[in-house]
Amino acid sequence: MRFSPVLACGLATLSAAALAARPDEPAPKRVAPKYETKRDHDPDGIGKFYMGREIARVMGYQGASWLERPERVKEEEPAKLIEALAVRPGMVVADVGAGSGYHTFLLAPLVGDRGKVIASDIQPEMLEMMTEKAKKLGVKNVETVRGTETDPKLPADGVDLILMVDVYHEFSHPFEMVEKMVTALKPGGRLVFVEFRLEDPKVFIKLVHKMSERQVLREMEPFAEMEHTRTIGTLPWQHVVVFTKRQPKN
Ligand SMILES: C[S@@+](CC[C@H](N)C(=O)[O-])C[C@H]1O[C@@H](n2cnc3c(N)ncnc32)[C@H](O)[C@@H]1O
Repeated sequence: MRFSPVLACGLATLSAAALAARPDEPAPKRVAPKYETKRDHDPDGIGKFYMGREIARVMGYQGASWLERPERVKEEEPAKLIEALAVRPGMVVADVGAGSGYHTFLLAPLVGDRGKVIASDIQPEMLEMMTEKAKKLGVKNVETVRGTETDPKLPADGVDLILMVDVYHEFSHPFEMVEKMVTALKPGGRLVFVEFRLEDPKVFIKLVHKMSERQVLREMEPFAEMEHTRTIGTLPWQHVVVFTKRQPKN
């Protein structure tokens, strides 16, 4: 994994400046870190790099059966993840990069009739699978949304929790996606990265589909309005890195 110290230095300066801003001063404009492309790259990546990390190829809808594999219960312990998220009735939860809806349909009963789960994905085939599943199960509080590579199409200031399971490393435009998701969160809302642990050689997942906690933190540095509040390390293969949107200063 390569990393540009020049870029890191710039980001650190920006975050510190943003945090130090006085409430009566306009927030400093966020500068988008640059993407790089390289001809020599991992065959599972797209040859586009962000802060030293190669972005992975998107998993096609043809792989949906892998997402629904029974072994996933043992490999990822999704019930433990969902419990750790402390989802409450009435919440608006977004499952971004929802795929076939594996987590969407675990979340739907928890938010209840007064809440909803917004399942966003860029592949219409994935959205169709979720629509069919909702019909089959009689689930009424799941709303499917077709996002784009730069925008998950969530309502501004309308979401309590955004979950991304095995997704973020595939975003072709991670900066733009996070910027939109931060706007979508209510103050106090949480942005949750669930990624295969790069630090753990016993996690047998393709390299570009894994991310270290350090890299997640680095890529969140431009977003001074988000605070790293927790990392949950109790899942078998993944870590759960949680950021909370700061309350606006009066
Ligand atoms: C490996 S799958 C994970 C699906 C699901 N989260 C799960 O754990 O079962 C990654 C999903 O992210 C979606 N995806 C990739 N880039 C996206 C973007 N910019 N916005 C929304 N979804 C995206 C892909 O279409 C794919 O369905």
